[in-house]
Amino acid sequence: MNVPNHIAIILDGNGRWARAKGMPRSYGHVRGCANLESICYVIRDLGVKYLTVYAFSTENWKRSRDEIEGLMTLFRTYLKRCMKICEKNQMRLKVIGDIRAFPEDIQKSVARVEEYSKDFTRIYFQLALNYGGRDEITRGVRRLAQDVADGKHRPEDIDEAVVEGYLDTAGIPDPDLLIRTSGEQRLSNFLLWQLAYSEFYFTDVPWPEFDKAELTRAIEKYNERDRRYGAVKEEQECLRPGL
Ligand code: IPE
Ligand code: IPE
Ligand code: MG
Repeated sequence: MNVPNHIAIILDGNGRWARAKGMPRSYGHVRGCANLESICYVIRDLGVKYLTVYAFSTENWKRSRDEIEGLMTLFRTYLKRCMKICEKNQMRLKVIGDIRAFPEDIQKSVARVEEYSKDFTRIYFQLALNYGGRDEITRGVRRLAQDVADGKHRPEDIDEAVVEGYLDTAGIPDPDLLIRTSGEQRLSNFLLWQLAYSEFYFTDVPWPEFDKAELTRAIEKYNERDRRYGAVKEEQECLRPGL
């Protein structure tokens, strides 16, 4: 089995899963969070190098105050535990998204785990918090415009590689496989630039139940696909050798 180098996951369906069990949505988030830890061990054992997960979107602020507060508490607990998870997996954590909108103690916890895990190289784990693809591009464009104004770039020199360097995911290869759990078939503003040539896999299984067997199924499906454009960058170079 050919294991994708980079898997991105929209972990969806916590609320519906809990409701179906007669439990509050917050219970779904707690179980979803526990599942995220389990999936990291699976990813490690399979040899996947990069994992990026969507945990809180720029649109998720529209949820009820109660739910948002519950999620913040959960992020606090998770980030405390995260050092251990990073160590067990030799995993580097990087948060993508604009966490300036988060409570200060969460921002500090993020900085602490990022610093602690920065030299681990077995798994590169990107956690998307207050992340939106449009927001990421907008923030990147703003910084790029400032650098042009400061004379660091000339407009005519701006190409895809330069733009990529201004994204939160600068230096991280694009996902090979995007998975969305729980039935919806939309991107909900996730990695709009980076998913240009990724394979998409949608499943009805809700995130708290998405386990090793489900991930293996997704990878098997991915293996059945013809990834003709998977290596689009190299192909472009072959087709345009003079450029
Ligand atoms: C995904 O589960 C987790 C977050 C977005 C924080 P949801 O909370 O979206 O669960 P559903 O989609 O309502 O079931
Ligand atoms: C996408 O799920 C965002 C995350 C998983 C963090 P949502 O449940 O928030 O997306 P929509 O509202 O169904 O598009
Ligand atoms: Mg949802």
